[in-house]
Amino acid sequence: MKTALGLSVVAALAALGTQSAFAQNAIPSEPANAVNLVDGLEGVFGTHAGSRRSGARGVCAAGTFTGNKAGAAVSKASAFSGKPVPVTLRFSVGGGNPNAPESGKGVRGLAAQFDLPNGEQWLMANISAPFFTAATPDGFLAFLEARKPDPATKKMDPAKIAAAAAKYPDFKPQMEWVAKTGVPASYGAVNYWSTHAFKFTNAAGKTQFAKWMFVPAGGQEFIPEEKLANHAKVFLADELKGRVSQIPVEFDMVLQLGQAGDPTDNATVAWPDDRKKVVAGRLKVTSVTDTASCDGINFNPLILPTGIEGSDDPLLAARAGSYAVSQARRLSK
Ligand code: HEM
Repeated sequence: MKTALGLSVVAALAALGTQSAFAQNAIPSEPANAVNLVDGLEGVFGTHAGSRRSGARGVCAAGTFTGNKAGAAVSKASAFSGKPVPVTLRFSVGGGNPNAPESGKGVRGLAAQFDLPNGEQWLMANISAPFFTAATPDGFLAFLEARKPDPATKKMDPAKIAAAAAKYPDFKPQMEWVAKTGVPASYGAVNYWSTHAFKFTNAAGKTQFAKWMFVPAGGQEFIPEEKLANHAKVFLADELKGRVSQIPVEFDMVLQLGQAGDPTDNATVAWPDDRKKVVAGRLKVTSVTDTASCDGINFNPLILPTGIEGSDDPLLAARAGSYAVSQARRLSK
């Protein structure tokens, strides 16, 4: 008997068998979606009841943001009106391990919810690296699947990691950055980047793409390399509490303005450093608050005020979906 393609049934079944074997070994095993990305995070870090599936270790904080005229020239968002707006914050350690050592290399996170006067909100979650891990949701799923420990040995398979890295060269910039960058001594003394481009529109209707960065007013502080081995493994929340009890921890919000041809769809490519940068406002962190103050928030980066829109970066929609999946799981188990 022949199938529509002229194959014998035996050959067609054999082809199907090959296909499913291929799917089993392919990286990623299937196209990424909101659910399998969260499964991928759980595969690497395990499932920790009540914890975020990424940025699991962290601390809530509160403060204000005051935008300025330079910000208003780029966007009509009410965040840049010049009046302080309340901000709910969460600082975190990258990855889904709620017990991750804080003296280890890796990215730290700064997430924020701006509560704007007209009932609008602006949500964001930024990292202490200019690049994200992967350029596409499929690439990020491959990154995670390659790191899932073998159930028998409980160890990662270096061959799988190497195969994923060969297929996705976009993993490289962040890995190299993390390897060469020190371990932050404080959540309040390290730069944080949006990594994505967003589309900004000002009151005159002019649109342009920009990326943002939060730059600590007091400069960056890293733990000296020779002190890392004996450094406390858990210190970041208490350190921040101590800092803000003296004086607010402040960050400048810096907008880097893109030029024609700068990629707007790839968070693993930083724009050239000579692009114009404007200080658009100041974030003041005034207190460290209890977990309940930010646990109900998933910092979906597509909740944006009038005057700021997402770009064509495919990670943005994937983030919006998987943050909701992670929140549903952590609030239920
Ligand atoms: C497809 C790509 C990504 C996926 C699947 C992903 C997934 C997640 C998930 C599931 C959470 C936990 C959400 C919650 O339970 O509330 C999370 C948190 C976080 N993500 Fe992502 N993420 C992605 C890309 C990014 C990028 C590009 C950045 C930054 C540039 C980022 C920064 C963060 C930070 C800082 C947190 C912690 C936020 C908090 O404190 O609640 N992620 N991510």
